[in-house]
Amino acid sequence: MTTNRTFTMIKPDAVKNGHTGAILEKITAAGFRIVALKKTQLSTLDAEAFYSVHSERPFFGELVNFMSSGPIIAAILEKENAVDDFRTLIGATNPADAADGTIRKLYATSIGENAVHGSDSNDNAAIEGTFHFAGRELF
Ligand code: RTP
Ligand code: MG
Repeated sequence: MTTNRTFTMIKPDAVKNGHTGAILEKITAAGFRIVALKKTQLSTLDAEAFYSVHSERPFFGELVNFMSSGPIIAAILEKENAVDDFRTLIGATNPADAADGTIRKLYATSIGENAVHGSDSNDNAAIEGTFHFAGRELF
């Protein structure tokens, strides 16, 4: 199992606002190779399962509603130090705190609707990639 992979979603706000192409361009320009990619939509149950680690948090219902509200882009990305480098590329959870040039600074609108997801560990990258993709969809 490689540890040089991470998992991302372009969230419903950024897809709806027409930022898919610009975000994919920033991702590939930063040196990430696309291993798997698709447009899909999470059901309520999918979003609850994907973010189950946050089920006790006060924002959980809002998060599930938002993440299932429209289509997303899901992708598995490959690069040396992928998890940490991708978190740097997307910036802080709250776009108000995100560094200049980061994807969330450029395209997120609020702490809840923050344009992109990035895995927070190698283990979660593998779990999240498997949640969205079958082995035959990885290249
Ligand atoms: P993500 O998992 O989506 O990459 O985001 P993250 O690691 O930066 O942040 P995390 O703590 O894992 O939170 C997951 C998502 O929940 C929403 N959130 N809303 N209203 C709020 O206070 C709040 N806090 C978090 C965001 O969509 C966040 O990305
Ligand atoms: Mg997270």
